[in-house]
Amino acid sequence: MLVPLRELLQGAKKGRYAVGAFNFSNLEILQAIILAAKRRSAPVIIQTSQSAIKYAGLEYIVAMARVAGDLSGVPVALHLDHGTDLATIEACIKAGYSSVMIDASHYSFSENIRVTKEVVALAHAYGVSVEAELGRLAGEEDEISVGEQEAAYTDPDQARVFAEQTGVDALAVAVGTAHGLYQGEPHLDFVRLQQIAEIVPIPLVLHGASGVPAESIRQAIERGICKINIDTELRMAFTKAVKDYLDHHDTYDPRRILSPAIDAMADVVEAKINLFGSANKAVR
Ligand code: G3H
Ligand code: ZN
Repeated sequence: MLVPLRELLQGAKKGRYAVGAFNFSNLEILQAIILAAKRRSAPVIIQTSQSAIKYAGLEYIVAMARVAGDLSGVPVALHLDHGTDLATIEACIKAGYSSVMIDASHYSFSENIRVTKEVVALAHAYGVSVEAELGRLAGEEDEISVGEQEAAYTDPDQARVFAEQTGVDALAVAVGTAHGLYQGEPHLDFVRLQQIAEIVPIPLVLHGASGVPAESIRQAIERGICKINIDTELRMAFTKAVKDYLDHHDTYDPRRILSPAIDAMADVVEAKINLFGSANKAVR
């Protein structure tokens, strides 16, 4: 069974750890995530972007996720990542996602609140959780592309008002991370994060966490981050493993080519689970 994000993040907030949210778009990535979550007995969030849904098909995604939830023995939430299209959000809610993100962070503050409230009303009627975003992360995540000049840090007072007025279950904040590959080392604004966490009672979410040093991740969790999104590092592990295998083997069997990629991605997920403190937190 798939569980609502709200449930997973309540446990994380109380226990002062973070649940890993890993993007997938095919069977092999999903298998790797679940393999690692089972190994570490960790709750896990499996998430798809809108373009992953376009790639794999909504019905395939939901069917695979349901099987993963049923067979895993750990709590699994199926989450829509960076939902911008209201029709897709509604389709995900009705198809069986246990959580959705409405990313209206490119709108004005008041419009972000209005759109987010609309999604909360719909999702909560189905028992589905909602994550929203305030502030804007630089970088590229599938269809979302934000230049350095458009990026904006989250304002703590606005975050408090936003959480109160929208009724969202989790809030993604912009505190110095970016989507995709980093050029140099990312520096997080921990003072800002602390200020947000002190006045916003709901779980906070860190996007763009691939490539963020372990110590920064630990400090972010200490200051209220309960959900951490990882996509780029899984893509890189997948691609490297496939390339390495094909560089040394002459085969046309996809199973031989993709098995090392599953193992490589599972190792990445396992290391993140250890870092996030969510190992042995699977209670169903
Ligand atoms: O929404 C997904 C993420 O924020 C993933 O970011 O690709 O930098 O790991 P990443
Ligand atoms: Zn993101």
